[in-house]
Amino acid sequence: MDIQAYYLPAAVAAHLLSAVIWVGGMFFAYTSLRPAAAKLLEVQQRTKLWRKCLITFFTWVWISIIVLPVTGYWIIYAHYGGMARVGWHIHIMQVIGIIMIMIFLHMFFAPFRQLLKALKHENFQTAADQLAKIRRFMGINLVLGIVVLVVAGGMRYLAI
Ligand code: HEM
Repeated sequence: MDIQAYYLPAAVAAHLLSAVIWVGGMFFAYTSLRPAAAKLLEVQQRTKLWRKCLITFFTWVWISIIVLPVTGYWIIYAHYGGMARVGWHIHIMQVIGIIMIMIFLHMFFAPFRQLLKALKHENFQTAADQLAKIRRFMGINLVLGIVVLVVAGGMRYLAI
């Protein structure tokens, strides 16, 4: 059995799974959980719910932001033979992907950590303010993620 024949399909599958988990998770959080929690819960329960959810979801995002560039650059260099040989859709994906990763890292190390700290001290108003910041960053990343999916999945077939 030629094990190397499975490298490319495995890399593409891991790449796609990571993208689906990350963008799909943000879509659910932004469009479904956020409005429901805002409508039904007081600030104390709401901020605690988000802490629990985000700790789990961000663990998956950490895995995704490692797997996406590792598999993406592996495909570029091992399969296509370098950056100069890939289509415009991959250049766009790479640039937007890096911006998304930077936004996530900022969100994780600034407002998310502040959120955890505020909740440790039962400071719910500060926690809610940090949550509002997380929501804005997640909204930006959701839009960027959808743009990447449209560009990488569909627009690549445009003959540009
Ligand atoms: C961080 C840098 C990234 C690099 C270097 C990269 C690289 C690549 C490469 C080389 C492919 C294979 C394309 C082909 O064979 O034509 C690919 C496919 C894909 N990537 Fe990325 N990617 C990155 C980030 C992302 C992100 C952040 C997302 C989504 C959130 C994403 C979503 C996709 C999708 C949906 C495909 C499948 C497109 C298709 O073949 O139909 N990528 N990527």
